[in-house]
Formats: sequence, C-alpha cells, structure tokens
Amino acid sequence: MRYQGREVGVEGRVRLVMESALTARDRVGVQDFVLLENYTSEAAFIENLRRRFRENLIYTYIGSVLVSVNPYKELEIYSKQHMERYRGVSFYEISPHIYAVSDNTYRAMRTERKDQCILISGESGAGKTEASKKILLYYAVTCPANDHMASLGDRLLQSNPVLEAFGNAKTLRNDNSSRFGKYMDVQFDFRGAPVGGHILNYLLEKSRVVHQNHGERNFHIFYQLLDGGEEDLLKTLDLARNPQNYQYLVKGNCPRVSSINDKNDWKAVMKALSIIGFTEGEVQELLNIIASVLHLGNIQFGEGEDGETRITTDTQIRNLAKLLGVDGSALREALTHKKLIAKGEEMISPLNFEQAGSARDALAKAVYGRTFTWLVEKINQSLALKDEVYHSSKGSSVIGLLDIYGFEVLQHNSFEQFCINYCNEKLQQLFIELTLRSEQEEYETEGIAWETVQYFDNKIICDLIEEKHKGIISILDEECLRPGEACDVSFLEKLEDTLGGHAHFVTHKLANGKTRRVMSREEFRLLHYAGEVNYNVSGFLDKNNDLLYRSLKEVMCQSSHQILNQCFRREEVIDQKRPEMAATQFKNSLTKLMEILMSKEPSYVRCIKPNDAKQPGRFDEVLVRHQVKYLGLMENLRVRRAGFAYRRRFEAFLQRYKPLCPETWPNWHGRLADGVSTLVKHLGYKPEEYKLGRSKIFIRFPKTLFTTEDALEAKKPAIALTLQTSWRGYRERAKYQRIRHAVIVIQSAWRGMKARRRAKRRRQAAELIRRFIKGFIYRDEEYCPENEYFLDHVRFSFLKTLRKNLPKSVLDKSWPTPPPSLTEASEHLRRLHMQNMVMKYCRRIQPEWRKQMEQKVVASEIFKEQKDSYPQSVGKLFLGSRLESEQINLKVIQTLGNEKVQYGAAVTKYDRRGFKARPRQLLLTATFAVLVDRTKIKQRIDYNALRSISVGSLSDGIFVLHMPSEDNKQKGDVVLHCDHVIELVTKLAMMAGKINHVNVSPGSIRFAVARGKEGIIDFIRGSELKVAKGKRGHLLVTAPQISTT
Ligand SMILES: Nc1ncnc2c1ncn2[C@@H]1O[C@H](COP(=O)(O)OP(=O)(O)OP(=O)(O)O)[C@@H](O)[C@H]1O
Ligand SMILES: [Mg+2]
Repeated sequence: MRYQGREVGVEGRVRLVMESALTARDRVGVQDFVLLENYTSEAAFIENLRRRFRENLIYTYIGSVLVSVNPYKELEIYSKQHMERYRGVSFYEISPHIYAVSDNTYRAMRTERKDQCILISGESGAGKTEASKKILLYYAVTCPANDHMASLGDRLLQSNPVLEAFGNAKTLRNDNSSRFGKYMDVQFDFRGAPVGGHILNYLLEKSRVVHQNHGERNFHIFYQLLDGGEEDLLKTLDLARNPQNYQYLVKGNCPRVSSINDKNDWKAVMKALSIIGFTEGEVQELLNIIASVLHLGNIQFGEGEDGETRITTDTQIRNLAKLLGVDGSALREALTHKKLIAKGEEMISPLNFEQAGSARDALAKAVYGRTFTWLVEKINQSLALKDEVYHSSKGSSVIGLLDIYGFEVLQHNSFEQFCINYCNEKLQQLFIELTLRSEQEEYETEGIAWETVQYFDNKIICDLIEEKHKGIISILDEECLRPGEACDVSFLEKLEDTLGGHAHFVTHKLANGKTRRVMSREEFRLLHYAGEVNYNVSGFLDKNNDLLYRSLKEVMCQSSHQILNQCFRREEVIDQKRPEMAATQFKNSLTKLMEILMSKEPSYVRCIKPNDAKQPGRFDEVLVRHQVKYLGLMENLRVRRAGFAYRRRFEAFLQRYKPLCPETWPNWHGRLADGVSTLVKHLGYKPEEYKLGRSKIFIRFPKTLFTTEDALEAKKPAIALTLQTSWRGYRERAKYQRIRHAVIVIQSAWRGMKARRRAKRRRQAAELIRRFIKGFIYRDEEYCPENEYFLDHVRFSFLKTLRKNLPKSVLDKSWPTPPPSLTEASEHLRRLHMQNMVMKYCRRIQPEWRKQMEQKVVASEIFKEQKDSYPQSVGKLFLGSRLESEQINLKVIQTLGNEKVQYGAAVTKYDRRGFKARPRQLLLTATFAVLVDRTKIKQRIDYNALRSISVGSLSDGIFVLHMPSEDNKQKGDVVLHCDHVIELVTKLAMMAGKINHVNVSPGSIRFAVARGKEGIIDFIRGSELKVAKGKRGHLLVTAPQISTT
C-alpha cells in the first residue's frame, strides 16, 4: 500500500504522513505530533493516539518526547533484533520506540560527553516501570561489557525484582504498582560500558504496611514469603502459610491476584538477592524482619484490671522479640508506654488502647520503611563503581532513569497524593524550563529570532506548596510542632488564614457556591497546572509527623540484628533534635532530585494508560483525555511547535530530499546551506514557510513538509531505478574486479612456481655439468668425491648400454667395451651371460638333438684339425643309421637275437693281404659290432676286444679296427672304408667306450695281419679318391684336397 498523503476528516484533520521509509503499517497517523496540522486540537491529538493504538503502534513522538500507551499485552517489538534495528540509527529514520529514546540518549552521552536523564512519568499503571526496565535491558544487551564488571548488567537488571517485591503492591489501578519513586543512575565508562549504578528512592507508601484499601494488597514480599517460602523457613519464622491469619494482610481482602504468581516471584527474588550479593545471613535477617512485621500486626491489646492497656498475645510478643533480636519485656513495655522528656526529666506514661495500636502500627511502618531504605543502600553498594574501575573510567558519563509517580487524582486524596502531585509540579517546572531553555538556545545558536512562546508557568503553584513560612509544607510543619491541641482541622484553618485569596488555593469556606457544592469541609483544593485536586486534610498531621515513640526507638536500637542496627541508630535516640517532618524531607529530596536532573540533558517518556480495566485493545477516550491533560502533553506540543513545526539539520534534510532537485542530485558539492537553499527554492517554498538557521532548516507548517514528502514519494520509483542501476553496476564491477584480482593472483603464483622450477632445474643441470667435468678430469684417480659422480655415471651408463646390447645367442661374440674400472666386472658378466645363455640353450634342447650334439662334440674332439674331411662333416647331421631296416637281412637280425642293431652302414672291407675290396655291412649293437655279408655275419668284434681305431688324416674313408693280436679267434685288424667314416667312427668309439683310442694318423697306418705280420696303408693327396694296392704291398689311398672355403 503506497502512502497517498490523504487527508482524513477528523476534527483537526489528521493527515497521514510518511516521515521516513517505513512499512505501511507504521504509517498510521503521524509518528510525531509536531506534524499534526491542527496541533492545538486535543481531539486531533487523541485521535492520532487512538488510530495508532488500534494498530498496536503504542509509541508516538512529540519532537523528542516519547508518548507511550500501555498496550496491556505482550507485543513482539522488544526482541534482540529490534534492539539491533535501533542501534546507532537516527531518531527520525525509524518508527518511534522506547529503544530509539534509549539509543539516542546513549549516543548523546557518548558523543557530547554530557550526562543524560530519561524522565518517565504517567499515572499508576501507565507503564512507567515497564518502560524503565526496557531501557535498562536495552543497555544491558547492547552496550559493550566491561571486563571488570561483566555481571553489572545482571545486577542492574536483578535490582528490579527485589525492589518490586519490597516496594510494589497490587492496587486497584495496577497489579504491580510501584509504591515508591525511583531514580536510578547508570554510570558508563569511556568505552560506553556500564560500570556502576546508584538508586535513589522516594517516599515509600508506608501506610500500606498496616492498611490496604479494599481490593488491594500489602507489598508483594509478604505474600511471596507465605506462598513460596519452604516449610522449614516458615517454621523458623513461626509463620503459617495462610495470609488470612495476619491482620496486616487481611484489610484489602485480596490475598490472591490472577496476574501474579507469588511462588515463582519468590524464587526470582531469592535468586536476584544472591546475584546482587546478599549473604545468606542478610537474607535470613531480612526475612526475620518481614515476618516480624506480620507478627507485629497480630499483637492485640486489651484492658487490664486497673484499666491500663496491656498486650493479650504473649506468644506473639515472644516470637516478635526473637525475630527482632530485642528484649521481650522491654518491647512489651515500649508498646504500651511512652517516654517523655520534660525539663530534662524522663517521664513514663501509659498509652491508652488506641495509642498503643498506633504505636504498634508506627513501629511496623518504621521497621518496614527503614528496612526498605537499607535494602536500597545495600543494592547501591553492590552496584557501586569499584575503585579500580573508577580510576580507569575517567571521562565516564551517567544516564539517569526516573520512574516516578504521575499525577494522582483519587476519589479521596490524602497526604500521599499531595506529595506525589507536588513532585509532578516540580517535574513540570523542570520540563518547561529545560524545554524552553533548549528551544531558546537552539534558536539563538541557529541565529533565528526568538518568538515568545505562550505557556503556563507553574512556579506559582510550586511556591504555594514549598515556599518557606508561607507554603503549605511550612504551615503543616508548624502545625505539627506547635504546642497545644493541633489537629488536621486546625491545620486547614491555618491554611485558610495564610493562603486565602491565592489563585490556586480554595477551601470549602473560601470557595464560591458552585465549587463549595463539590467540596467537603475537610478538604482544600489546589489548582495544579494539570487540573484541580481536592485533598482531605485528615491524617495529614500524623503522616507528616511519622511519629515513632522514643521508647520504641530505644528498644529497636538494642536489637542484636545487623540490619536493624543500621536502621535504628543510637545517635537518633541521643540526639535531642527533632528529625525533619515527612513533607519537608520529601521536599528536600525533591530539591536534590531537581538539582541532579538540571545538571543533565533530559529526555522524556510520557506513559498513558488506555483504560482502567487493564484490558488490551480498549481505548477509553475520556480517560486518555484526562491523562493527556494531566501530563501536559498539549502544552508540550505547543512549546515544541512554537514557531516551527519541523526542524532538521541541513545534512539530514539535504540527504533526504536531494533527489527532488536536479542540482542537488545525486550529490551536492557546495556548502550545505547553499544546497538546502537551492533545494527549497526548487521546491517552491515561500519565504514565510521556512527559515534557514546556521546548521538547521526550520519549516513553519507541516503542510510544507507533507508536500515535499509526497513529491519524494512520487519520485521514489525513479530514484529506486537509478539506485538499482548504479548498485548493479557497482556490484558487477566489484565482482569483475574480484575475479580479475583472483586470476592475477593465480597467474602470478603459477608463473612463479614454473619459474622457480625452471631455475631449480638449471641450477641442478649446471651443478651436474660441473661435477661431470670435474669427474672427467679426475677420471683416472682413485674413487674420490671429485670423480665419484662421473665414475658412477660411466659405470651406470655402461651397464645400461650393456643391458640393451647383450648378445642374443651363444654364437654372437659381440660385447660392449667396458670402461677401465669395469673391465673385471665386465668379464664376469660376460661369462655369466654366456653360461646363462648356454644353460638356457641346454634346457631347451631335445634328446635327439642332444645326442647329435654329444656325438658332434666327440667327433670334434677326435677329428678337429686332424682330418681333412672333418670340416665338411660338421655341417652334416649324423644319422641314426645309414641302413634302412629292410636293408638288413632278417636272418642277421634273428642271429643277433636280443642285441638290437643301433647303427648300420655300408662299408667296404679290404682283405689284409691282397686288399681285395668286399662290400659289407657294419652293424653296431650295444656290446659288439658285426660285419655282415648279405645274410651272414662274417665277423663279430666285441667292443671289449677292440684295442683302438685308426683313421687317416686326409679326406678318405679308410679306418682300421685294431684287434688284439694274441686272440687267435681274430684274424687280425680289420681295414674298412666307409663314405661316412667320421660318423661311423664317432658312433663306434662312443658305443665301445674308445673315444681316447682313436688315432688319426697323418702319414700311414700300420695294422696287424694275422700271426704277427704287419700291413701298411699309405695316404697321399691326389686328384681323386682311389684305394688300390701300392707298389710295396702297401695299400695306397689317394684322397683329394678339400677346399676349406
Ligand atoms: N510496553 C508494555 N508492553 C506490555 N505490557 C505493558 C507495557 N507497559 C506496561 N504494561 C502492563 O501494564 C502493567 C503496569 O505497568 P507498570 O507497572 O509499568 O505501570 P507503572 O506506570 O509503573 O505504574 P505505577 O505507577 O503503579 O508503578 C504491567 O504490569 C504490564 O502488565
Ligand atoms: Mg511502577
């Protein structure tokens, strides 16, 4: 819902306004009464309050004064988040709130270094105490904590439940009515942390201790003790749980209140007492005193036989004496007799029945009242600024909180109302003085002509009450002290005599007919600034006297209890001087209070009670009008509005409205005053509508401001767009810059790393080269640090080369050349490698081939470099046999029987004599060889018998088997020829085990012919192979030369 700046047709026309960019709900009515068009209209004022109250907007300003209407329900506006919202925010930028006042006061204290005070006033039940608690809580939560005094905030807050228990009571107007006035100082150090506190209390309503009106209660603590106290405690105090048992609690006939939970409150109070620092002993004594007051109330008097007054309740007296720590009989005596000193002589006279009752009540009031004062003092000690903190807190400042009774106008107004209303007169005077003074000062500092403000100065009423000799208080005191039969009526007469004719004083006798009708004869009327009040004089003298008989004081002075000892001082009894009367005491304390307040910068909270039924949502117009009048709010507004409705510092004004003028938007760079002047000219303000001071602009009529506000509201979409655009631009730019920065960071880190790596590699390379060169130079030295790297490298690279170039086969004889240092190792390796290859080769070899190889090896051993035809035979495989099985005659095989033919070859046998050539087969078995002529075995040669074998060295196939000559069975050596002589001889030699008995003869072979004769075979080289009988009977073998190529 957009604010439209509508006008509403109420009397005085309340104009809706938006002072700042708040939510629509906050814009009900005006947030500041100074913006009311018709500011003199009370109806408009009340209507504005009502409209806002209906929307739960309980706070409204009159300038810097906060008006608060009691909502009588919990509102969600006091959370921590709300506190944060109001922190450091300018007063007018955000909806009115008690936190805004708290924060503003705090900031003023911090920035201006001037003590501040917040004066909270309003009638009973309007919410003063609640407001003061909210302010305290705001400071406790939002202010920085001081290390030394971390718990001070707690103690400040906890002082409330204690003081409320002892000083508050349920009245007809308020279930938790403060029955004393309270001024509390909170001291802050130079950092703004709370460091100390001090409480001043004013005029406790002591009469409540002994009497309560119907529907009201005594002070909360009595009920809390009876309801919440543990059984044991009550037993020691000799109390019963039922409040109806106690005379001092039955008068109001209202022991229970639905809104109060005495049991819980009791616990809270006990906890608070311990937090504040009360010892267990002190708490016990305090409770003794509370109990003693209850017992005192139950003391009954009766008439003795001689008509004298005596106490009828003996046990009560005993208990009482025990609780008060005094002598029982002395107490009994003092309650029934009074002591007079006449002409220096002490006289004791008995009290009559009534007097004894009054003496008892006076004692109860005195005990309770003084204990309350002691309690406040004790709390003050706990809150007091400690020495060490004090020294470190130079430049500290104070915020005072005054929670004091507002104007009270009851059906019957007595001494208390007189004092309370007097207090309010004084506060009003202070308010007028301070407000007007500050107004005037502001006009002066701003250089604007002072326009006289019409207001009612209530000094005349204050004087009427307090003036020396002529004032009501003086007359009252005089009447109290006067010898003779002074009484309330004589006091009234004295007033009439002295004050008759005063414009603000009327009595029944002095009044005109109309007034007389509404006044009784015992009343006098004061025309207070806020209205007329009739006071009934009955009880004035007694209350002012506040009399406690000397004998009772004496008894109390003897008390063995600490607290009572401090409350009833001996000096009081010794001192003959009469203590000051109650009214004078009150007057003096008020004078002191005014001095305190005058020295501080005040802020005001004015509390209003919306209805008498304590109900939420009910706004009783008559009641509110009454309070608006009694609080002097219209007066407030008039003073505030005198001259100008609105004022704001140039910078604030320019900041808010600068979008309305092209010259000032988006920024004004010149002097602020010129900027504001340009702006208002552009807005078309007429000269009579405003004035420019030195630092502020003053606007005379709210209308002018509203028009400006409306213009701003209309302009807002465009401003929003501009702001959005620039914000987006800014955001994107910032994002881009962020990314760019990140990229640069990553880049530089990466580059740095790369460069570092490269440099490292180079360094290492240089180092390597250096070592290499050095090593090269020292390469022939012993292994030493200079050459170790080089030599290791050479070794390593040789081994690497070797690994790649190892010979692949046994026949490959290549081998890399080792460096000198590795010659030996290289040789080992070579051998190992060769062994390895051979081993591998052998493992792979087939049995057949193995046999072949063995035979070849044997052939090599026998014939290598011995026989010409050997090289030719190397490449040719030895066969298993040179005969096919079918070539061997079956008969031969049969003859051989079990002996298997393992090799057979065709041979030519030469006779030993004639060397005739005969074809034969030579068959080899495992143990012998046979020469076969077709089907017949011609000769068997046992291997055992074979002596040796001879072979010629040429390329022929002749071989001779030498047989033992002594063996007659043998016909001599056998001369044979075979084309495969090497193969055959090899196999035979192996089978016969005669490898070492093969002779290769280079020249000729001699062989045995039977019976000792010898034959010779000669070998010569010729063109072709020829075996023939030679000249000398030798066998001549011609063998061709075999080319070895
Ligand atoms: N801001 C608030 N929010 C909710 N309830 C409130 C608020 N202010 C006051 N009340 C209610 O009104 C009651 C009376 O308020 P409070 O005790 O502060 O009055 P008072 O002005 O101190 O009266 P008295 O002069 O009798 O001490 C409170 O107990 C509470 O229930
Ligand atoms: Mg109160």
